[in-house]
Amino acid sequence: LTVTAMSVEEEHDDLFPADCRLFSDSFSEERAYRFSGQELRICQEFSASLGVAAPVWEAALCLCRYFEEQQFDFAGRRVIELGSGTGIVGILAARLGAAVTLTDLPHALPQLQRNVSANQPSPCWPHPPSVRALSWGLDHAHFPSDWDLVLGADIVYARDTYPLLLATLRHLCQQGAVLYLASELRQEHGTPEFLTELLPGSFHTELLHHDDQLNISIYRGTLRGAGTLRERDGALGH
Ligand SMILES: C[S@@+](CC[C@H](N)C(=O)[O-])C[C@H]1O[C@@H](n2cnc3c(N)ncnc32)[C@H](O)[C@@H]1O
Repeated sequence: LTVTAMSVEEEHDDLFPADCRLFSDSFSEERAYRFSGQELRICQEFSASLGVAAPVWEAALCLCRYFEEQQFDFAGRRVIELGSGTGIVGILAARLGAAVTLTDLPHALPQLQRNVSANQPSPCWPHPPSVRALSWGLDHAHFPSDWDLVLGADIVYARDTYPLLLATLRHLCQQGAVLYLASELRQEHGTPEFLTELLPGSFHTELLHHDDQLNISIYRGTLRGAGTLRERDGALGH
């Protein structure tokens, strides 16, 4: 019985499934989402280097759904998003008329920028969004502190970053910005402790929404003693 080279190759083809994603270091996946009448196409570039910045996390979808349900008025608001990842939340806000700055660690910016560019509406953005590096606790002094809204989805998950994150939130909210944080409550990482003990030390906080199934909460906050102009303007009216 002779086995030809061809039959050996065919045998190997059978052993390895056609889905080459299983064998590459990285792969990307584009998905469509629809919130508040906006069709968003978000690319997730899975790779060892991008890590947690690659996927769209459930907390981000929860926050988008919350804004949709509230028919949140983003028009003309000055918004900064922390730890944007794929950018889905900030991109939605920009599509709805906000002037948005999306931020993350430097290694996450190429994916973020590509998603922003891929979601430019026709003919153009109401206010073109910007993408910038902001490493919590280190870079925030390069950013202004007169935002209307500060957004964060699933950015409360690593205890060693909590003091840095708090310092950045305090800086960005010092002129009365309203903070929206959507977080999966990871007990083992101290997320509930951050939201119910650390954050209230500096912020007036309010639980807006809790999804039992996903174990995700959305909190709103304003910095204690911050300027109240924006609150009187109705920024807290949602
Ligand atoms: C779990 S992901 C959430 C991404 C996105 N907001 C979402 O919900 O889909 C956490 C994000 O925080 C960013 N991040 C983590 N530590 C950071 C730090 N010290 N400074 C700035 N961004 C950070 C990560 O790069 C990542 O994009």
